[in-house]
This record gives sequence, structure tokens and C-alpha cells, in this order.
Amino acid sequence: MDLELKDHVAVVTGGASGIGKACAEALEREGCRVAVWDLANGVDVADYASVHAALARTVAEFGPVRHLVHAAAMGSGKFGFPFTNLEPADWKRVLEVNILGMVHVAQALSPAMVERKSGSMVFIASIAGQIGSQTDPPYSASKAANINFAQCLAKDMAPHGVRVNTVNPGMVKTPLNENVWRAWNAQQPTDRQKSYADWGLEKVRAVAPLGRWQSPADIADMVVFLSSARAEQVTGQTINVDGGQVMHW
Ligand SMILES: NC(=O)c1ccc[n+]([C@@H]2O[C@H](COP(=O)([O-])OP(=O)(O)OC[C@H]3O[C@@H](n4cnc5c(N)ncnc54)[C@H](O)[C@@H]3O)[C@@H](O)[C@H]2O)c1
Repeated sequence: MDLELKDHVAVVTGGASGIGKACAEALEREGCRVAVWDLANGVDVADYASVHAALARTVAEFGPVRHLVHAAAMGSGKFGFPFTNLEPADWKRVLEVNILGMVHVAQALSPAMVERKSGSMVFIASIAGQIGSQTDPPYSASKAANINFAQCLAKDMAPHGVRVNTVNPGMVKTPLNENVWRAWNAQQPTDRQKSYADWGLEKVRAVAPLGRWQSPADIADMVVFLSSARAEQVTGQTINVDGGQVMHW
């Protein structure tokens, strides 16, 4: 299948680790020139000036951006069940990074895509945004906001030939996911504590019909497809790559 991505310029936020890194590598394998915007290389998506500076550097080095994959996000780092375990102040940075970060990136990249009358954006949200995951309410609420804003964007951008979709992973072994286990484990009495491997396997077997972890590459496959010419009629969709954990009809 020719995905027609060769020599296209793509931005991957959060591309230094986990799912974002797998997306950046997969796009590169398809011939894209990929700019990674990540805290690890000095770009903070929560800071609009930082996003603008990154865009100027990317355009100068690679040319106009045709594809966005937005994977940068964070959790609160605390176990949020019940939600009163968290202070209201624990929500602030999560909402700034996860919601405003998306707004900043979309706002910065949209005008040139509209002008060129083409482009694609894929936002990595989470099934937590669909099911009200109690583990980390600010994370969960921010992911619902990602799904919703992506739908607004898809409607706005469709008349300009720009497609916008969302991919929701379920359980993927990454530093972000390991932090969820760490916060959970720290709350347990010693005799109920588990290793990350045992916690994850038990959880994924209990919640996902396919019964196994998704890999970063599983998510990247869907992201690359949605970015490609083979998905030319796909916009405004929220696609779960979650082993069947969430099913809608
Ligand atoms: N791992 C999972 O099980 C899982 C499940 C559902 C959704 N997701 C989503 O997948 C995406 C990627 O997460 P991951 O699991 O690969 O995590 P990760 O921790 O491996 O990677 C996240 C990356 O985002 C970067 N980042 C964080 N804050 C940033 C900021 N303010 N500005 C720029 N970069 C920033 C980090 O430096 C890191 O490189 C996130 O949107 C996450 O919510 C992950």
C-alpha cells in the first residue's frame, strides 16, 4: 500500500518517548522528514511562545508542515481515586499541558495548512477520555477535552481540505503508564503491592477483550494510516486502539 507520505514534513509532539517516538520513527520509515517537539529537546507545548519558536525552526529547516501528530501529555503523578486525594492545584499543570498544549499546537499549525488547502492532524487522546477513568481525574478530563476539541477542529478545517482525527490508546508500556502504576502502588498496603509487570498484565487481561498490552508500534500504525492519502475520506473520527476495551455501537 502506497501511503504517499514520501518527503512530507511532519511534526510529532512528545516524540522523544513512548508512543510519540514510535510515531516519529514510523513516519520516517514512510519517508517523512520529522521534527520532534518535546520537553526533552526544549519545546514546552504548554508555552505558546515555545511552540511558535519551534514552528519557525521547523519551517526554516524542513519547509511547510503537512502533518501533525500530537502525543505530548502528562498525568498528575498522583493516585486520584477518590478525586479528593488530589488538591485542586494538582489539576493545573495537567490541564495546561494536555488541553492548552493541544490548543497551542493546533493554533500554530492551522493557518499554513488552511492556506495550502491540505494537511492532517492526529491527536493522541486516551480511552480514559471516554470512560471517566478514576485513576487520575485531571488526566481523564483533559483527554475528553482533546477528543471534543478535535471534533470542533475537524469541522472547522474540513472545508479547507485539512483532516483531523483522534487515536485513543488503552494500555501501552511507557514512562507515562508506569507512573500510573507507581502512584497506585504507593497507596497500597505492602502485602497488596505488585510489580509493574504483574499490575499491567492483570489489568489488561481484566479490561481488554484481546487481553494484552498494545505496543507503541500498534498505535503508530493507526496514526500513520490516518495521516496518509489512504485515509483521505476520514476526518473527525475517534479511533480506539485498545484491544477492544471500549466498544461503541
Ligand atoms: N501509555 C499509555 O498506556 C497511554 C494510554 C492512553 C493514552 N496515552 C497517550 O499517549 C500519548 C503519549 O504518551 P506515552 O504513554 O507515550 O508517554 P511518554 O511519557 O512515554 O511520552 C510523553 C512525551 O511527552 C513529552 N512531554 C510531556 N509534557 C510535555 C510538554 N509540556 N511539552 C512537550 N513535550 C512534553 C515527554 O517529554 C515525553 O517525551 C499521551 O497523549 C498519552 O496521554 C498513553
